[in-house]
Amino acid sequence: MFKLLLFLFFLGLVAAENGLDGWLRYAPIPFAHKHHGHIPDKIVALNSTESSPVNTAGLELQKGFKGIFDKRVKIDDRIHGRHGKGGSSVIVGTVEQYANAGGKADVPSLGNDGFWLDICGSTARILGQNERGALYGAFEYLSRLAQGKISDDTFASNPDAPIRWINQWDNLNEGGTHGSIERGYGGYSIFFDNGTIVPDLTRAAQYARLLASIRVNAVVVNNVNANYTLLTEENMDGLARIADVFRPWGIQMGLSLYFASPEELGGLDTFDPLDERVIAWWHDITDKLYKRVPDMAGYLVKANSEGQPGPLTYNRTLAEGANLFAKAVQPYGGVVMFRAFVYDSKTLNQTLDWRADRANAAVEYFGELDGKFDDNVVVQIKYGPIDFQVREPASPLFANLFETNTAIELQITQEYLGQQCHVVYLPPLWRTILDFDMRVDQKPSLVSDIVSGKRFNRKLGGYAGVANVGTNTTWLGSHLAMSNLYAYGRLAWDPSSDSVEILQDWTRLTFGFDPKVLHTITKLSMDSWPTYEKYTGNLGIQTLTDILLGHYGPNPASQDGNPWGQWTRADSDSIGMDRTVWNGTRFAGQYPSEVAELYEHPETTPDDLLLWFHHVPYTHRLHSGKTVIQHFYDEHYDGAARAQDYVHMWKSLRGRIDKERYEHVLHRLIYQAGHALVWRDSINTFYFNKSGIPDDAGRVANHPYRIEAEDMILGGYLPYAVSPFEAASGATAVVTASNSSTGTAEVELKVPDGKYDLAVNYFDLAIGRSEWSLSVGGREVGRWEGDSEYVLGHAPSPYIDGHSAMRITFENVWVRNGDKLRIVGQADGEEPAPLDYVSVLPVGVVD
Ligand code: GCU
Repeated sequence: MFKLLLFLFFLGLVAAENGLDGWLRYAPIPFAHKHHGHIPDKIVALNSTESSPVNTAGLELQKGFKGIFDKRVKIDDRIHGRHGKGGSSVIVGTVEQYANAGGKADVPSLGNDGFWLDICGSTARILGQNERGALYGAFEYLSRLAQGKISDDTFASNPDAPIRWINQWDNLNEGGTHGSIERGYGGYSIFFDNGTIVPDLTRAAQYARLLASIRVNAVVVNNVNANYTLLTEENMDGLARIADVFRPWGIQMGLSLYFASPEELGGLDTFDPLDERVIAWWHDITDKLYKRVPDMAGYLVKANSEGQPGPLTYNRTLAEGANLFAKAVQPYGGVVMFRAFVYDSKTLNQTLDWRADRANAAVEYFGELDGKFDDNVVVQIKYGPIDFQVREPASPLFANLFETNTAIELQITQEYLGQQCHVVYLPPLWRTILDFDMRVDQKPSLVSDIVSGKRFNRKLGGYAGVANVGTNTTWLGSHLAMSNLYAYGRLAWDPSSDSVEILQDWTRLTFGFDPKVLHTITKLSMDSWPTYEKYTGNLGIQTLTDILLGHYGPNPASQDGNPWGQWTRADSDSIGMDRTVWNGTRFAGQYPSEVAELYEHPETTPDDLLLWFHHVPYTHRLHSGKTVIQHFYDEHYDGAARAQDYVHMWKSLRGRIDKERYEHVLHRLIYQAGHALVWRDSINTFYFNKSGIPDDAGRVANHPYRIEAEDMILGGYLPYAVSPFEAASGATAVVTASNSSTGTAEVELKVPDGKYDLAVNYFDLAIGRSEWSLSVGGREVGRWEGDSEYVLGHAPSPYIDGHSAMRITFENVWVRNGDKLRIVGQADGEEPAPLDYVSVLPVGVVD
């Protein structure tokens, strides 16, 4: 009976949802009425000024009680208010406010932003060290209630690190265009439009609410590739409006600065950071900003990197550049996050220089500046030495700065990790870095303890997460990707938090209590990063995406010879970057001796970083006993197979999740399964071609169920040599003869009568909406449109390549031997209805 009731309850839950509330849905919990004894009679918020986080906490508690328990609870601002002494209450405020109001409590001493929570029956006291802490405590209490964790408890919680920021890479755009987001896959900017700040900041406030609940305390709202137009008077007014909507949530606003603004906006003939006029200009701008936003968090600066101007132009050091801003914000208590992502792509030459290595840049630029930064500067370091790859060692810069504040930069938006079209739950990856022990001076030196300031006694430090949410109601473009945003906040508060626990809290809050939903999402998410690594780049070779365009689909050849210094040095015999001290780029020597020694030798380097540190033959044997090349082949087959499973796993949740979110996720998982095969075949074909070494299992370049489009009888379709060649099966696709014409591809099927899954691989370019139809034996099986550029959100490609390659599958199609299979493609725009191949698969087989 209980089970039946629970089941009916879950059914009742499945009303359509669009994701806007993220994990803050306050959905009714099972048997809510039974818990009414735990709901207080009133909420006491000890500060009722509208912009105070304590006031926000009161309103949020009210909303939570209504949603979770369907109970309206009144808000008061006095402990013993008009409701009399006797009623139970939840009190929220700062420790000080509570004492001033006559409250007595034995609260342990709290750190900045910390809180104390005391739950006893229907009474609760939520006391923050500051107002923000009180709001965090309220969210913690609500999160427990929303997960049905209704029990007495008393505890204090303090942040591991003071800096827990979000970076948005939002552009202002001009000329009537919406604010775009660099490496954003969830729509347009929620802050900017047509060169200015959007009039309606509702989404910005909703974002602040989500972020406050995970204890993020500041958001840098504009792209690190900044623009001086941000600092016009009109825009400064607009920025003040953003700060106003953030404030009630305890979130401070930060800004990315364009280093050459004094010249380009200020009309000076220089932007030399030591020039008096430049200094005065920045101080003036800073004063103007703080006049409008007295609690501004500070600045974020990307200088002398990827075309951004910086102090090196004037032979000034990066520290001199950083300190210019530090001095301007110092009187206001502001902070300058100065990015360590500095490298000079122009001097990198792979062919001429075996020792050239972009990975060396951060320590080379910043190591010697240790101790030269002002106290309110934090050097913001990407987790790995290159750029958010699927596997990287921890950046050695963390172990080279002892008298400098540092923060780790994590990327929530999945730039190199499937752009929210592939599920990749990131905390397990982040934990490989945060938990890494640098062994500075032979002492425990976890990266998390370095950035928190504990290891080297620094007052400032922490976390910067590049989120890039957009106007899409799912925020990031995908419902499942939101677990990464949630987890970022949880880890920034407590880096020892368990990846599974975080995920399960998020799942309950996002999708409810059904144990099958919880189990399935846990399994799928925890498997997702290893799987993605398997079918993209293995053994530390990097993700192997197209580094020249979009960073999305496969293109291993682009990982060499490029000016960005992201190289694999693959040739016909061997692969990997030799980063040893004795023979390579000497990068390994940037780590403290114990770690350096480990990475110096292939025997002591973990397999998953082998090709990061060593250049070895494809026949090199790993610790596992396999050769490098066979490992590539096997991992790609295994990874792609796991991605197929995700579809089945998700389908098992049909009816247990509201239709809207169920379908949205399903669509993407089906897409991912198809694109995982594109990855598998591209990478395997590429390295087979390069090395000439066949797959022991005979799978690579051997696809018995496949019929290449170019081998079919074509009418109006012409063969087309695809580049990169490995993005198409057999290196060739077919395209319509002109942009407006129709093509047909036909083949007689020679298979025993029966049911088959028919998979069609085609290319959906972002420059048209072609239409295709498939028929068998004169019966139409299905039609589809090339509209994924409007649906998926990954970096668009106008080419027939690894980004645009995708698959559609029609399951259980009845086929008779001799039936004619016919595909008709109708070109649209500049998209010539490209087709790659058809697989006629016995049911259960995928290839
Ligand atoms: C990557 C990313 C860029 C970004 C840069 C950065 O290279 O592709 O879009 O600007 O990192 O972090 O500054």
